[in-house]
Amino acid sequence: MDMRKTVLVTGGAGYIGSHTLIKLLQYDYFPVVLDNFSNSTPEALVRVKEIAKKSFDAVEGDVRDQQLLTSIFEKYSRQKNPINCIIHFAAHKAVGESVSRPLKYYENNVTGTLTLLAAAKAANVKRFVFSSSATIYGKPHFLPYTEDHPVAPTNPYGWSKAMVEQILKDVCIATPEFSAIALRYFNPIGAHSSGLIGEDPKDEPNNLFPYITQVAVKTRKHLRIFGNDYETPDGTGVRDYIHIEDLAEGHVKAIQYQEEKQQTGFKAFNLGTGRGTSVLQLINAFEEATNTKVAYEFSDRRAGDLAAAWANTSAAENELNWKAKHGLADMCRDGWNWQKNNPHGYCNNNK
Ligand code: NAD
Ligand code: WQD
Repeated sequence: MDMRKTVLVTGGAGYIGSHTLIKLLQYDYFPVVLDNFSNSTPEALVRVKEIAKKSFDAVEGDVRDQQLLTSIFEKYSRQKNPINCIIHFAAHKAVGESVSRPLKYYENNVTGTLTLLAAAKAANVKRFVFSSSATIYGKPHFLPYTEDHPVAPTNPYGWSKAMVEQILKDVCIATPEFSAIALRYFNPIGAHSSGLIGEDPKDEPNNLFPYITQVAVKTRKHLRIFGNDYETPDGTGVRDYIHIEDLAEGHVKAIQYQEEKQQTGFKAFNLGTGRGTSVLQLINAFEEATNTKVAYEFSDRRAGDLAAAWANTSAAENELNWKAKHGLADMCRDGWNWQKNNPHGYCNNNK
């Protein structure tokens, strides 16, 4: 009889989900992964098992499948280790694509969450941790962003996250014993220190860091820096980059907070480092940490980009007892260790 607390992890084969699985296993939880592998591969779960050396369950399926969700909740209830909490990673996350295909994003990210919440309610599951994003803040009225900064997304992806946060607030009002924590991620980068799992974008990376590592490993020719005329120290965009392992740890702290404080209602927490880093600073840090060169050229600004964004993380520090521990050099070293061992991501034959 497995006495570990069962946690349903939707999207658990993805970049953040797979790293969070390792932390959950290390803290002796029993994860049940639900993933449709629309942006990941089962190989990631094979490697999670190799790293964590502990068992977990995985189901290939879609959070929009009400019947499947019901069968999952019923299975673990029958087995007397009922699902105690849900960590909901499953979503589409490409900002640019959300502008050209808004319905794809609202259908998956919002309807998917509504289906999941309905099944959770029917199964009397009352703890929910949601993958939100700093994107919901939109153009900064002030920096660093605090959790009470106005919410004003500038793209359908960001709106899908803001809508789900509102849904969770309303569910908590209607069900006072329900606990919903929205973790607003800033810019997660890097990889597990083993180099066995990491970020593996399916096509040309939208995000900066995987582009840097692909240029460094020479699967791409050069990086285009989108604008060097921003009002920032060196003219390039400033972001709050956080090590993926720190971000993953934040999820364990969130479910421990729900358990230990018997927390109910809706809470949001910024998960960042509280430090801003420019594109050029990240490139320099990467080259120094990995002894590689990153070829780049300056190009026009990317539509919709902010000049600068970084987090005030005092709420997570004070209430979740969580603080990012890794610095830029760790993020760069670990991200490079993954990419150089897996130049083509999980499609590599060599592990
Ligand atoms: P990812 O694409 O690597 O992981 C998402 C996972 O969800 C994938 O494995 C995908 O196959 C799965 N999935 C998608 N739709 C599904 C569905 N309908 N049913 C079942 N599985 C489904 O993305 P990630 O970077 O790990 O992000 C995880 C979450 O964090 C997402 O909700 C994303 O919006 C959010 N987030 C990510 C970032 C970031 O920079 N990576 C920043 C802020 C927020
Ligand atoms: C970072 C900086 C770019 C690529 C995005 C999503 C956000 C969240 C995190 C999901 C910016 C510059 C980038 C490149 C570049 N994901 N850049 N050349 O835009 O802060 O946030 O990822 O929630 O929703 O919007 O991250 O990595 O795309 O860009 O110069 O090829 O790097 O202009 O200044 P961003 P990013």
